[in-house]
Amino acid sequence: MTNLNYTPTIWTRADALKVNENDPTTTQPIVSADFPVMSDEVFIWDTMPLRSLDGTVVSVDGWSVIFTLTAQRNNNNSEYLDAEGNYDITSDWNNRHGRARICYWYSRTGKDWIFGGRVMAEGVSPTAREWAGTPILLNEDGDIDLYYTCVTPGATIAKVRGKVLSSEEGVTLAGFNEVKSLFSADGVYYQTESQNPYWNFRDPSPFIDPHDGKLYMVFEGNVAGERGSHIVGKEEMGILPPGHRDVGNSKFQVGCIGMAVAKDLSGDEWEILPPLVTAVGVNDQTERPHFVFQDGKYYLFTISHKFTYADGLTGPDGVYGFLSDNLTGPYSPMNGSGLVLGNPPSQPFQTYSHCVMPNGLVTSFIDNVPTSDGNYRIGGTEAPTVKIVLKGNRSFVERVFDYGYIPPMKNIILN
Ligand code: FRU
Repeated sequence: MTNLNYTPTIWTRADALKVNENDPTTTQPIVSADFPVMSDEVFIWDTMPLRSLDGTVVSVDGWSVIFTLTAQRNNNNSEYLDAEGNYDITSDWNNRHGRARICYWYSRTGKDWIFGGRVMAEGVSPTAREWAGTPILLNEDGDIDLYYTCVTPGATIAKVRGKVLSSEEGVTLAGFNEVKSLFSADGVYYQTESQNPYWNFRDPSPFIDPHDGKLYMVFEGNVAGERGSHIVGKEEMGILPPGHRDVGNSKFQVGCIGMAVAKDLSGDEWEILPPLVTAVGVNDQTERPHFVFQDGKYYLFTISHKFTYADGLTGPDGVYGFLSDNLTGPYSPMNGSGLVLGNPPSQPFQTYSHCVMPNGLVTSFIDNVPTSDGNYRIGGTEAPTVKIVLKGNRSFVERVFDYGYIPPMKNIILN
């Protein structure tokens, strides 16, 4: 179908050694422990603003719309209450992935989000977990394609079509009742469950390449091959200083940013392509990849964790970036290392799942923030939005906005 011929860019161990958790220009400002929560009934984490295929964050008839991974807070459920009735919010929060559902919220102000409810009714999605993806507004009739991940059993990138309707009172969704599976890991470019029970394959982010006008998507994968069979060779190491040449067990960390191309703009049929960036021997998870196109360049962002770094490397939870003049690369790690916006060392888990929007605003959710009594407070709610500025292959934190501030870049009047 395509004649794209390219080699993945290697994010090397030497690149990752340049990650500096103490650089204020790439560190997310401290989130205060007295943050407000959006809802006492649900936790939210990965946030997916409604956008068009060119990446623009849109509102409809003046209403902003976001989709979130969502789970009930079980604060009244005996499973999470001890004999004295104390609620174990930490276990409840940590168990959320198994019961993730995609819900939507709307707002007149780009913050102050009003809960809209579930996108798909129970039983519509074919697997136990509704994991992250991207909602795309297709046209002025309000048609939406929600790309997302059907997880457990397996992990399949899928989409479901519905409609957004607005009134003076708010926003409702309709449809979203027929899920179309698109593809799973192929075992050739992307590791399958049988190659590695800890495989990662999820988080589709479709986009139109401004250069060739075709529809592509990036997603999270691992490099194909049996677990433990990967080789962390010279290319994966890069140019290493003395004392850093022992790669330990880093062959178990094989993250990559995957790509696929659609047959046409309907996005109904897809062909899997090689990864754009691989992290063999560096990091096992390059999650929720997404593009920003600016100044004729391709800024490819992905989120990653401290705990998924390979032996001998470390870096903060946060968003990392890679820059290229072409869609297919080669890419170079932003700021030399890849790090664009990481949590401060004093609050390593304050936020996660950053999404960089084309206006430089970065949304994320609050995970947990240390409190003055030596404890910590679980979030499950939107973090303050951070503005970053992209200047060539460097980025700079510029300012902080309100919690969950996701303003539209364009308003669409629905027919
Ligand atoms: C990121 C993430 C995604 C996944 C979801 C599962 O926070 O790990 O990669 O889709 O959370 O809850």
